[in-house]
Amino acid sequence: MLRRLHSEQPESFEFTPANLAWAQNQVTKYPEGRQASAIIPLLWRAQEQESWLTRPAIEYVADMLGMAYIRALEVASFYFMFQLQPVGSVAHIQICGTLSCMICGAEDLMAVCKEKIAEKPHALSADGKFSWEEVECLGACTNAPMAQIGKDYYEDLTAEKLGQLLEDMAAGKVPSVGPQNGRFAAEPESGITSLTEFVNGSIKLNASAQLADDIGDTIKRIDGTEVALVQGWEDQSNGGAASAVALASQAANDDTATPIAAAPKDTPAADTAADSGETAPALKPSKELPGQADLAERKGEWRYEGGDKAEAAPETDAKAAVTTNVSGDAETVSEDDKPATLEAARDGGADDLKLIKGVGPKLEKLLNSMGFYHFDQVAAWTGQELAWVDQNLEGFKGRATRDNWVGQAKTLASGEETEFATRAKKDDIYKD
Ligand code: FES
Repeated sequence: MLRRLHSEQPESFEFTPANLAWAQNQVTKYPEGRQASAIIPLLWRAQEQESWLTRPAIEYVADMLGMAYIRALEVASFYFMFQLQPVGSVAHIQICGTLSCMICGAEDLMAVCKEKIAEKPHALSADGKFSWEEVECLGACTNAPMAQIGKDYYEDLTAEKLGQLLEDMAAGKVPSVGPQNGRFAAEPESGITSLTEFVNGSIKLNASAQLADDIGDTIKRIDGTEVALVQGWEDQSNGGAASAVALASQAANDDTATPIAAAPKDTPAADTAADSGETAPALKPSKELPGQADLAERKGEWRYEGGDKAEAAPETDAKAAVTTNVSGDAETVSEDDKPATLEAARDGGADDLKLIKGVGPKLEKLLNSMGFYHFDQVAAWTGQELAWVDQNLEGFKGRATRDNWVGQAKTLASGEETEFATRAKKDDIYKD
């Protein structure tokens, strides 16, 4: 099927503040110069926000990542996970029509779609709630026939089951995902002979289906008001505390911002705030989050030239980008938080800071220029000091917390080796 931009497009697109914060957080996952790698999650989030991927959304994401529009369009038009035309307001049903599913009854499922939704794929149902299409193998052949709806799989379907799913969704329910015939995962239908506790015990759904069930958002729009969005992947790591605290601290200084969500009690942010004797304030969006105009100005900031070569981000632009990433810098970390530094390496020479995962030759030089030469210096950074360092790593902000430099440095300072350090030494990964 030809995948083209829809003939009717909205005037503009802009991430909601929380979705923008989430998107910026995603971008920090990738090394400098490789921010274009975030294209798929960002396009997906744009689609989740609007239900389909519009031209302004593709251009907005391209601007955000410093990519040519055509390159973003290539991605959006290649993967059929991206919907280039309006879809049903409740759900778009993607029926796998490849071999296993076809043998096991995909045609029956498509007949249900034709009857209950619309005769032609990509057409909207009369009430505008549903649309459907046939897609190629979705990799769940053992559980054929199956369909992807929203971001989840519904497997072991029958025409009757699919019809029921559509009715439930139309009624505002969010059905359980995964196998629809009582199977736990992809075990033989005749039953399993090992790991029986997973099927016969208290665990009823496989991990993926359980997670989707718990979140309960499989067919819901991600409009940016959800609690989890501002937490971001970074909060899974050691660095989350600093980021979430920064957000919370910013919020505390900003009376006018609208709360998005209170910091969950069990997050590192809440823990840290509790340790300091403070009440964790509600997380609020930064008033400095850039809108589309700012993003346009920053075009070229993360320019990706294609191929293997990447142009270094202009320092001032990179600063602006990460400054607005997770915190209001000036309000959260001051010069008082700067860790102790040295004029030069101690006798015996500097430690090889490149043995810390996330520190390359360029960053080692930067750290040395800042007065950090030894593992024990890094190991001694407090949370606030770590935040200070992170904010002063021009072009690499967030790296220190993300890669848990302090934890790694503690291991290295004690004379032990991390897995990365062992590998780095063995492979001599920084050899020119
Ligand atoms: Fe349908 Fe592979 S054939 S998931």
